[in-house]
Amino acid sequence: MGSTTNIFLFACIFTFTLWNNIQLSVENEFTAHYSSNFSSLPELRVLNLSHNLIRELDFNVFKFNEKLECLDLSHNNLWNMCCQTLASLRHLDLSFNKFKTLPICQEFGNMLNLEYLGLSATMIRKSDFRGSSMKALILEHIRTKVFYFSQDILYKAFSDMNIENLTISDAYMPHMLCPSHTSLFQYLDFSYNALTDEVFKNCDTLIHLKMLILQRNQLENLSKVSSMTSKMKSLKHLEISRNLLYYDENENHCHWVETLAKLNLSSNKLTDSVFGCLPINAQILDLQNNQITTVPKDITELKALKELNIAFNRLTELPGCSHYRGLELLNIEENSILTPSSDFFHSCQNIRELRGGHNPFQCSCELRDFVNFEKKSGGRLVGWPESYVCEYPDGLKGTQLKDFQLSELSCNTTLLLVIALVVTVVVVAVTSFLCIYFDVMWYLKMMWQWTQTKSRVRKSHPEDLQSILHFHAFISYSERDSLWVKNHLIPNLEKEDGSVQICLHERNFIPGKSIVENIINCIEKSYKSIFVLSPNFVQSEWCHYELSFAHHKLFSESCNSLILILLEPIPQYLIPARYHKLKALMAKRTYLEWPKEKNKHGLFWANLKVAINTNLPVSTEMIVV
Ligand SMILES: *[C@@H]1O[C@H](CO)[C@@H](O)[C@H](O)[C@H]1NC(C)=O
Ligand SMILES: *[C@@H]1O[C@H](CO)[C@@H](O)[C@H](O)[C@H]1NC(C)=O
Ligand SMILES: *[C@@H]1O[C@H](CO)[C@@H](O)[C@H](O)[C@H]1NC(C)=O
Ligand SMILES: *[C@@H]1O[C@H](CO)[C@@H](O)[C@H](O)[C@H]1NC(C)=O
Ligand SMILES: *[C@@H]1O[C@H](CO)[C@@H](O)[C@H](O)[C@H]1NC(C)=O
Repeated sequence: MGSTTNIFLFACIFTFTLWNNIQLSVENEFTAHYSSNFSSLPELRVLNLSHNLIRELDFNVFKFNEKLECLDLSHNNLWNMCCQTLASLRHLDLSFNKFKTLPICQEFGNMLNLEYLGLSATMIRKSDFRGSSMKALILEHIRTKVFYFSQDILYKAFSDMNIENLTISDAYMPHMLCPSHTSLFQYLDFSYNALTDEVFKNCDTLIHLKMLILQRNQLENLSKVSSMTSKMKSLKHLEISRNLLYYDENENHCHWVETLAKLNLSSNKLTDSVFGCLPINAQILDLQNNQITTVPKDITELKALKELNIAFNRLTELPGCSHYRGLELLNIEENSILTPSSDFFHSCQNIRELRGGHNPFQCSCELRDFVNFEKKSGGRLVGWPESYVCEYPDGLKGTQLKDFQLSELSCNTTLLLVIALVVTVVVVAVTSFLCIYFDVMWYLKMMWQWTQTKSRVRKSHPEDLQSILHFHAFISYSERDSLWVKNHLIPNLEKEDGSVQICLHERNFIPGKSIVENIINCIEKSYKSIFVLSPNFVQSEWCHYELSFAHHKLFSESCNSLILILLEPIPQYLIPARYHKLKALMAKRTYLEWPKEKNKHGLFWANLKVAINTNLPVSTEMIVV
């Protein structure tokens, strides 16, 4: 092992904070000389003996002072130590004495309450730190004043230490050497120093290092830092927050060691490009307080990523999880996110916790789904509801998202369309139903035809309407009652001298014209319209139409031109509801009833003829074909 001859000057003041389990070995050789006795002061807690001329001290003098907490022996002439465990001691200052080597006692390791140990020496020997049992050394708040030697020697002494944990923190340390041979270091904390990108460059001896803390140093080039880790085969956790790190996306030179699982990059100068330089097996990434505006879409997949912190950046939208599907925790507090979409929760299936508060939320329809998601799933948003407050629009500023409400209808365009569609369909359906039920279309068509025919007739015979009357009567009947019409009605009306002319559709219809037109023609050219009513009639569509035409004429010319013959009684229920006109007519008007008894037939025909002849103003010569 290394010899004790490797001595170098260390003309500086050291302030050590000893960890409880430090154990140091030093060969002791002392002379006991009691210069004082404090046994009569069992309550003694603080003893300040600084700035005296004490040359030797045996700690045994304090063995009755069980409550002694603070012992200041600085600025004396002590040159040798007689060690003793003082269990209650918290503060022990031995600095500025005449010790040649560091006065380190093994007993210090047993002083479990010791928080402060002040030491100084004119020399440091490697053996000072040698021990079979020493595992960790912590040096904090070191203020070096004067160096009379090459710093490299000091760095070498530290870097070649055979211990597991080394902390040199807040020591203005500008550099540290790579251990010259395979090192035992597992944990290195060099935070609050002045280390640059050159630290541990091309270093391949730190193969057991698991955790490296370089918080608050002068690191700048992220790609260099990644290369630094490439040979640290066991490195799991790298803490490089609060440096000056940036990454230029054109570089594309990142070589992180594959074992790296936790990386703290917070408080640096990183931009969106940092996503092109991340360790692929990272599980925990801290990127808070940088200058990130978006998480680019084309980043390498980070399959293992569980925790991602992007708080205190400049994000404008919630990043999805397409590149890190296993994400469980995401922090995006204090960014510039206006309207986080609830799609986030669909792409981030494993998310357990989302910290999204303190963003300038814009309370609009787009935000509703996000709010509803929290209300439904509950508890995934950390800080809900007090950290989630509307910033825009001005009218809602300060309103908590949980109290922000917009009606389903004002936001959901699909619903709005569906409702409009349903209303339209209903209106169309109701209108159609009414049209069909009341035969509106048919009536319209009929009116139109009627008007057309009339105007045509007027044009051809403008001089006198009377001159177009060719017939005494038009007979409307159901085809099923045709036997009665042909065998009884017509022969009886037309017999004698042909003074009564009847318009019959088989006989007088003009071929080539539509049925409706023929019917209208027939009605137009006849004084009277005779309707042979029977259950058959009511069930015939055509008969009903004919009745409607005739009825229309009746009103338009306000003359009594309708004659109803009731061939067979018609029960009211047989008349379809939509034939309300027929119903009304039958209810109001008197009709001639066809008698069953033969002897009454004569009277019937007489009555009928009277009805036809009543208003017959012109003679037979007007009948022209
Ligand atoms: C110190 O005190 C102890 C115990 O009271 C006593 O035995 C010893 O003689 C004292 N020593 C001196 C130098 O007075
Ligand atoms: C002890 O006394 C000196 C001089 O009076 C003072 O500077 C020092 O701070 C004191 N030590 C403690 C621990 O209070
Ligand atoms: C070294 O540091 C690690 C991490 O802080 C700790 O868990 C471990 O107990 C330390 N080991 C020693 C020997 O102090
Ligand atoms: C960062 O380091 C890499 C690798 O050494 C180098 O190629 C690159 O130029 C450096 N970037 C800057 C901006 O200095
Ligand atoms: C990263 O470092 C900062 C301090 O610089 C600390 O507040 C934060 O908790 C660390 N992040 C993680 C994940 O440990």
